Amino acid sequence: MPESGTTEAAPRSVGATIELEGLTKRYPGSDRPAVDNVSMEIAAGETVILVGPSGCGKSTTLKMINRLIEPTGGRIRIGGEDVTDMDPVKLRRTIGYAIQASGLFPHMTVAQNIALVPKMLRWPSARVRDRVEEMLDLVGLDPGEFRDRYPRQLSGGQQQRVGVARALAADPPVLLMDEPFGAVDPITRDHLQDELIRLQRELHKTIVFVTHDFDEAIKIGDRIAVLREQSHIAQFDTPEAILTNPADDFVSGFVGAGAALKRLNLTRVRDVPITDYPTVGVDDPLDEISARLRSAGTDEVLVLDKRGRPYKWLRRGDIVRAQGSLARAGVLVHDTVTRDATLRDALEAVLTDNTGRVAVTGRRGAYEGVVDVETLMNSVHELLEADRLEAREAQAGLEEQRAAQTHAEQEGAHPPGDRGEAQA
Ligand SMILES: Nc1ncnc2c1ncn2[C@@H]1O[C@H](COP(=O)(O)OP(=O)(O)OP(=O)(O)O)[C@@H](O)[C@H]1O
Ligand SMILES: [Mg+2]
Repeated sequence: MPESGTTEAAPRSVGATIELEGLTKRYPGSDRPAVDNVSMEIAAGETVILVGPSGCGKSTTLKMINRLIEPTGGRIRIGGEDVTDMDPVKLRRTIGYAIQASGLFPHMTVAQNIALVPKMLRWPSARVRDRVEEMLDLVGLDPGEFRDRYPRQLSGGQQQRVGVARALAADPPVLLMDEPFGAVDPITRDHLQDELIRLQRELHKTIVFVTHDFDEAIKIGDRIAVLREQSHIAQFDTPEAILTNPADDFVSGFVGAGAALKRLNLTRVRDVPITDYPTVGVDDPLDEISARLRSAGTDEVLVLDKRGRPYKWLRRGDIVRAQGSLARAGVLVHDTVTRDATLRDALEAVLTDNTGRVAVTGRRGAYEGVVDVETLMNSVHELLEADRLEAREAQAGLEEQRAAQTHAEQEGAHPPGDRGEAQA
């Protein structure tokens, strides 16, 4: 039976609240629950990250939300509606789900994989087709190039993108992601994270995202739930609050060393000045490129490829060695960042390329400007300075406390409890 409204223009569904109340899972045959009495309220449109040690029940918690795993106790409410006893198959059509290694069906094309849930929902075929194109575009894959490929004909990062496209295809208000970027290399992972942040700014879904990686959590999360054994919540707060005020040693252990530098993960490229840099096209005549180099006032230019994407850094001397062709000249651009990348990503990219700056790109990887190493170092200095100030204040507070205590002792004052005992 067709669902109501399937033939109407697709309304953009924004996020729904998720409430977990005393959620518990006891697997058969184990003596203690894998997830014990978890309660959590997630706001509509919020991205919440679950982090915690292996085996603490992150995946189990996530899978209870879409009832891939049936809870043994507690309630789940989505958008205020109790879905604990709802038909799980129906429920899952309203919840996007993306997992590590993409979970694509190998015998289906990219288009068929993405179309899966819309087809189950019996969308008309024209709408499904449009939606597939829209989704591929959204995750930065050219539909013409990728639509008819099979998953094995994609790189790991491209598979993850398709996985995200599939999870979003039916426009669910809620998106569950279980280490979706766990299986790709660090640079691709950074880019996928940036993509997700950009998507989320457009879509405002409610996202619950599981990861091992605290840096990833800081970067993506509006709030982070640090979980201990059995998914007991150690701290559930914003990245800033967890970094500056970890609840206990367990959380500090998770934050790890270098909390100040980790705050580089909280500042985005969009928050610092992005400047223009002289560019040339890969097909420009060499004498024009030379002229540009001379007039630029820099000893380097950025060569863009046919689609306006950063391709090579080219120095004055390189032109001489080019012998008529750019193919042999200059240094390939290894890494770029988007405006959503963190300063830490940017710093890493600068160090990788060793040019003293990193190119910033927009949609489809097109060049938009550069961030230079001075700008980045200024931000690092500011963070370190803030950290020192905080440490000094904490120290001053401690000394004040000690002074007050000494004073109290000298005055012969005792805490109320002592007096009580003295009287007894
Ligand atoms: N189907 C199952 N049957 C029995 N026990 C299970 C089952 N699935 C998971 N568990 C147990 O439940 C606990 C939580 O597992 P879960 O997969 O939720 O952890 P996790 O936090 O996602 O770990 P990881 O970070 O390694 O993915 C573990 O002790 C695990 O062994
Ligand atoms: Mg897991």
